[in-house]
Amino acid sequence: MNLPKSPLRTLQPGNGYRLPAEAYYDQDWFIREQKQLFRRSWNFVCETRDIKEPGDYLTATIGGEPIVVVRDESGRVRAFHNICRHRGAKLLDDQGNCNKIVCPYHRWQYQLDGSLRNVPQQVKQLPDLDLDDWGLVPVALANWQGLLFVNPDGQAAAFDDWLADIPDLLDAFEPSRLQVLCEGTFEFSANWKFYIENHVDWYHLWYTHPETLRMWGHHKGQMLQTGSHWASFEPLRPGHPSMTPDLEAINGLSERQQQNGAHLLFPNLTLFTGATYFATGVVIPLAPDRTQMRFRALVEPNQEIPADIAQIMLQAFQEITEVEDAGMTERLQATVQSDAFSVGPMTLDHEAPIAHLHDAYLAVFTR
Ligand code: FES
Ligand SMILES: [Fe+2]
Repeated sequence: MNLPKSPLRTLQPGNGYRLPAEAYYDQDWFIREQKQLFRRSWNFVCETRDIKEPGDYLTATIGGEPIVVVRDESGRVRAFHNICRHRGAKLLDDQGNCNKIVCPYHRWQYQLDGSLRNVPQQVKQLPDLDLDDWGLVPVALANWQGLLFVNPDGQAAAFDDWLADIPDLLDAFEPSRLQVLCEGTFEFSANWKFYIENHVDWYHLWYTHPETLRMWGHHKGQMLQTGSHWASFEPLRPGHPSMTPDLEAINGLSERQQQNGAHLLFPNLTLFTGATYFATGVVIPLAPDRTQMRFRALVEPNQEIPADIAQIMLQAFQEITEVEDAGMTERLQATVQSDAFSVGPMTLDHEAPIAHLHDAYLAVFTR
């Protein structure tokens, strides 16, 4: 593995805790991770519902790469590097609708299928330019149940192979059919990997969430690894009401799928499922010690939703993930640069998914 030039201080290994402390705060590590992990992975970017009409577009930065996804005139969704072929200016910002993509710098114009259509003063100033040679550079794009993923490098595993058994486990939720109940974004001051490790850490459930997750039977939970991903389900404890009793059940779920589900699509898409909801939470690295979480909950369409349910769901989510989970990751970030920071013994079963996560992470740097 290509380790950073700075001397490494390897953590005392617990059961499979493999990463050096630098992985959580070093800027060189962060840049290499952006290039070697995120630019070569399948990254969740948005849902098809976010770019519903022809001309709708949404921009994102994936592993430092400016990307745009756009629905063309024929209704097909495409992804491109959001970079002008003339001098490389960033083309589009945020999200919106356009009938062509116009570079603000010298106004080269591209069609929604990425082809270059018009170049100002072409005849006199760029007489040899062949428009066909200078279309936008496409980015690999895949759709699972209305969730759109891009792979800037196009070199990673074929999308279906990468998904492994996730469709068998979660297709029944049919998220593209569901409606948005609520969504939110928050930022926190910790490395993104601390958050993902916490997401697959079963041990903390009892102690970090003693109240908010008390209705779930953690001792009866089931965890599965599939490919680089992780899935988990746990039943309600007898006598406890579910988290959202006022919502309609999603049709067609198995008994296990109606339980509390927490899952990870490696590297950074967390999913939360239950009898009445399917939620995405994408964990976006902003800096070595700064991370953004974007959350959206989907529920069965065509139901009367009590007015306060969206707010209750959002508040519960923020309490669990922002206050409790991200709060703990900030406690790790606060100590990770200390000479005294180390990882000691880890629980046999409950923290084993962290070892799998590190295996998947390190494999990226050795392939
Ligand atoms: S950089 Fe886009 S037109 Fe010049
Ligand atoms: Fe948690």
